[in-house]
Amino acid sequence: MAAPTKEIVITGIKPTGKVHVGNYIGAIKPALELARTPMGKTAQEMEHVLKSGQVQEGGRTVLFFIADYHGLILIQDAREFRELSYRIAATWLALGLDPSKVVFYRQSDVPEIFELTWILSCLTPKGLMNRAHAYKAIVERNEQAGVDPDAGVNMGLYTYPILMAADILLFQSDLVPVGKDQAQHVEIARDLAEAFNRQYGETFNLPRHLMGETTAVIPGLDGRKMSKSYGNTIPLFEPEEELSKLIARIKTDSTLPNEPKDPDNSSVFLLYKEFAEVERTRAFREKLLQGIGWGEAKRELFQVMNEFLAEPRRKYRELLADPAELDRILAEGARKARELAAPTLSKVRERIGRR
Ligand code: TRP
Repeated sequence: MAAPTKEIVITGIKPTGKVHVGNYIGAIKPALELARTPMGKTAQEMEHVLKSGQVQEGGRTVLFFIADYHGLILIQDAREFRELSYRIAATWLALGLDPSKVVFYRQSDVPEIFELTWILSCLTPKGLMNRAHAYKAIVERNEQAGVDPDAGVNMGLYTYPILMAADILLFQSDLVPVGKDQAQHVEIARDLAEAFNRQYGETFNLPRHLMGETTAVIPGLDGRKMSKSYGNTIPLFEPEEELSKLIARIKTDSTLPNEPKDPDNSSVFLLYKEFAEVERTRAFREKLLQGIGWGEAKRELFQVMNEFLAEPRRKYRELLADPAELDRILAEGARKARELAAPTLSKVRERIGRR
């Protein structure tokens, strides 16, 4: 039997605005799941392994970080910048991320990342950045509008993929679970790892993109995909009354009370099943088929969501009210991250001839 290898999984979370139900179901929930069920071990076995130390033998080391310096490309108001990082940290912790089981840190607290970014920049062909899709999309839009192709593009945006490559390569990561829109960035990280290895000898592990399993589209209030850009989201940590009002606004079909409803085409059901146990979901499905009215169905949805969210909501507020505690947790994560990063950065320095 092959010796068990340790697998390193990393994902960065760019601080944006309010976290909504779609973010939770599509990204946060699967990531937390991944952190709970390390490779080839039952959750119970892992409990044991995890208690014995951070870096696991033959399991997974999971790194979650707040990509705040990626956010700086856009967020250039100091107060907002600070707040957004705290909110993301509080969100993940409130939803059950256990900082003793993963390495949870803020990117800007790990200076090694930025040194590696520069070194990788010097090996990055400019043309590779020209082809990165986020930059390309802006250039195309500018050209269509008949303005300077680089209007509104700062160098942070342009070299975004190099910083992301440094995030990933510094930890010798194997797997990067991110959405489809980030797949190209992981490929660029791999290309840069190969370029470095070719030039200086085997140094970096080649990371792979891991596509999330949840491909289900989470419907928003109007039935379209829940997205900030459609203004149809349900923020996760709204006060109870607000949540209830939002749920009441979910678009339904015109089936009358007592007429059977089609669960699989109903946003109310699609949301319900993400928050309820299997048995309860089955019962709710039955009720819809039997023709429960939409008003009542929405009240049940509110109940199940509110039950699930009540505790995280309380925890979220508590954490946000205590930024010193968040700083303490993140500092501890940064300490671990820097420890993990040190051997790779020394090797890189040596390879380029700095010593
Ligand atoms: N670019 C990612 C996003 O916008 C965030 C990110 C930054 C990231 N660095 C990363 C994700 C490293 C995974 C690994 O979602």
